[in-house]
Amino acid sequence: MIEGIGATDFPADGGRATRQRHAKQERAYAELDRLWARGREVLGCDLAIMGGAMTWVSERNLVAAISKAGGFGVIASGSMSPDLLSNEIQATQAMTTRPFGVNLITLHPELLQLIDVCAAHDVGHVVLAGGLPSSAAVSRIKRSGARVFCFAPALGFARKLVRMGVDAIVIEGNEAGGHIGPVSTGVLAQEILPHLDGVPVFVAGGIGRGEAMLAYLEMGASGVQLGTRFVCAHESIAHPRFKRAFICAAARDAVASVQLDPRFPVIPVRALNNSATEQFVDVQRRVIDRFARGELSQKAAQLEIEHFWVGALRRAAVDGDIEAGSLMAGQSVGFVTREQSTAEILEELVGQALDALASRSERACQGTPWSAPALLGGQGARE
Ligand SMILES: Cc1cc2nc3c(=O)[nH]c(=O)nc-3n(C[C@H](O)[C@H](O)[C@H](O)COP(=O)(O)O)c2cc1C
Repeated sequence: MIEGIGATDFPADGGRATRQRHAKQERAYAELDRLWARGREVLGCDLAIMGGAMTWVSERNLVAAISKAGGFGVIASGSMSPDLLSNEIQATQAMTTRPFGVNLITLHPELLQLIDVCAAHDVGHVVLAGGLPSSAAVSRIKRSGARVFCFAPALGFARKLVRMGVDAIVIEGNEAGGHIGPVSTGVLAQEILPHLDGVPVFVAGGIGRGEAMLAYLEMGASGVQLGTRFVCAHESIAHPRFKRAFICAAARDAVASVQLDPRFPVIPVRALNNSATEQFVDVQRRVIDRFARGELSQKAAQLEIEHFWVGALRRAAVDGDIEAGSLMAGQSVGFVTREQSTAEILEELVGQALDALASRSERACQGTPWSAPALLGGQGARE
């Protein structure tokens, strides 16, 4: 033995195990790159992970942090005026040279002016949320040279959006935080991914770990969008009490808002259960009683119900009033267990996906414990 070098420095297998481990990691990296190549290309970043826009939370600090860490941050413009949006874009551009997007709500009364603000600042990606956009809005964004992303709640909508010329689709399932549709992410993914090849599709809602992200990529998604997992990032400006509520919550605490009477529709929102959730049911009951007694018109009753949540997200996320405000959160809140840096959250997601790919290739090397004929119940199964 050479002086100073212990027996353990020379692995008995001549380093074969280490080389095999590295080879498996290399294969996992290559496979992940292959799976989300289209997503990375359309976003122009390293990781095809979008930080879903969250009103009051997705502002310059979180957006820049996500983009700097290799993901794709998206500013939530919410009800911002064109001037406020202009400031926010400039402030974000001052913090990062990496690409990021802006989320605009289609119902905003100044939508076209907001689009022009994005164009004036050379924003490369505009995400249109809150309903089917007009073709005027889509073509105005495209004329500016930016890419247009839209949400599709069903395959028919997705196809229509593709015909309108959008560059990518986001499908968001019912598990997500904030305003939600009726269908789960898993079902939407099965409905849309196998049939929509023309544009990249990003899957959102309920994704908390890398294995889930990988599963959607393997089903044909080009990337994913996460919101809830980024709320407790160090760089997120959400109020400490808002963050604490997320850290303490389990998946089952993130509930969809309840509608008492179909004559008075309630826009479904998923949020953590708190006093406001219960109070909202009481308010609806009282309003419906007054309508039944003829004390309120249907329109006035509907307005009173809708008024309940006005400003509620700001009260919770900015002011920290976690009882009277709206704690919008997805079911993936169960995976939020501590404050972490944005880079750490992204690394964790990618690491989990890579580990899943590597351990699968390890199982493949060891041979499968079953045979295809056995699963199919064919002749091989009986032999
Ligand atoms: C607090 C909060 C606010 C949100 N605000 C918006 C918004 O303003 N616009 C939007 O398109 N989506 C909004 N969302 C949805 C996210 O962009 C994202 O699609 C969603 O959070 C993904 O699901 P997940 O929460 O399970 O990760 C919000 C979500 C949360 C949790």
